[in-house]
Formats: sequence, C-alpha cells, structure tokens
Amino acid sequence: MIDLVSAEKVFKSYVDKYNTEDDKIEVKIRHTYGVVSMSGYIAEKIGLDEENIELAKLIALLHDIGRFEQAKKFDCFIDSKDKDHAEYGINVLFENNLIRSFIKDDQYDSIILKAIKNHNKYQIEKGLTEEELLHCKIIRDADKTDNFRIKYTEEFETLYRISEEEIEKEKISDDVYEDFMNHKQIKCENRKTPLDFWVSYLAWIYDFNYDIGLKYLKDNDYVDKLINRIDYKNKDTIKKMKNIKKCANKFMSSIK
Ligand SMILES: [Fe+2]
Repeated sequence: MIDLVSAEKVFKSYVDKYNTEDDKIEVKIRHTYGVVSMSGYIAEKIGLDEENIELAKLIALLHDIGRFEQAKKFDCFIDSKDKDHAEYGINVLFENNLIRSFIKDDQYDSIILKAIKNHNKYQIEKGLTEEELLHCKIIRDADKTDNFRIKYTEEFETLYRISEEEIEKEKISDDVYEDFMNHKQIKCENRKTPLDFWVSYLAWIYDFNYDIGLKYLKDNDYVDKLINRIDYKNKDTIKKMKNIKKCANKFMSSIK
C-alpha cells in the first residue's frame, strides 16, 4: 500500500532540514511537486491502475531527493561523474533505509531505485523488468516536462549563477548544434557553454516515451517560449537558434 499523503509529509520534514529560503532549494521543491502531478497525469493517461498511479507519484516525489544534499555541498546543480544527483538520491534513500519512512513495505524498492537511477541518464539501462522500465519511462517524461516550465519561469541567476546579459553573448558549440539538428539528445560532457545547456534542454523533445508530455509542451508553447526567452547577441548563435527553432517546430507539429 502506498500512502502518498503520509509520504508527502515525510518529504516536507526532510526538506525542511535544508535552507528553504535558498532559491535553489525552493525551486527544487516546487519542481518536485510539479513532477508528482505530471507523473500522475501521464500514468492516468496511459491507463495504469490506481496502485501504479500512486507508485508513479511516489517515485516523482523522491526522484530528486539527492538534489538537496548536492545543493548544500556544492551550491550548484551541475552533475559530474562524482556527484550525479540520481546516485545521491539512491544513497539518501537506501543506505540508511530512509525509504521505509516513505513506504512501509519493500515490494516496490527495485522499481523505485531503478526509476530514480535512470531518470537523468542519457538513456535507460538495459535488462530492466517490464515494471521497472514502465516507471523509468514515466519519470523521465514527467521530469523533462516540468523542467521546461522551470527553465522558462526561473531566474537565470538561480539556474546558472550567471546573469542574463552574460548568457546573451554566449555561443552554441558546433557538435551540440549538429546533434540537435539530427534529433539527438545532447550528451552532458558535450555541453561547454551556458547556451549548450539551453539547447540540451530543448533537445529533450527527442527523448519522450509518450506524447502526453510533448502535447503539454505544445499546448503551452514551451519550446518557443524557451527559445525566445534569450535575446541572443552573437551572430553565429542567432543563425543557429533560428535553425534550431525551425527544426524543433517541425518536430512538434507532428504531435497531435
Ligand atoms: Fe527532476
């Protein structure tokens, strides 16, 4: 049995230990609840039973739990090999059995663990069970969908720790641009400039498992909103962004 109301209370008391006045912490809390609702929405739309809808929401509640330690230790949200926030999350939940305060029985532990582990990876690992794979797909889509909202609504200072004026002057790396135009996701290690990061978020559209999240992005015009949010100053960037926009709009137009 999953008791989401009680799990949300435990989550609240967990995050209360961190500085909730900190904009980075605060944005992650709001993101978490955004993902809970999106995961529930996707799970419902694809016709899952009540228990699996609740499980999808619980995974969403826990998927970024490692972010709070990460933000406290490093004052940033940039992952690298030694500080992948999904691995942090797994440690937080499973090393000291904190998971048991969120859900009493352990029958879903491997699904929860695999879903968190795979939520931020370039692709889902091979060899998962059908249920593990299902919940990996849901959390990846829900997380990406809510992240479009975050990237559109949050201050650049909160997201990057640099100002909008600085971002406007930046360039897009050639390999990042090429990957986007070829409908590929951007590998973390290829992102060198803040605009490479920006393009990598846009490239998430190529990695949705279900059209439900994409439809939400389309209905809310998030792809154009993200592209138009920045007043690009560099000539080469302006040209590349124009093509990126065209390519993304063409792709999105196929979503019904
Ligand atoms: Fe997330």
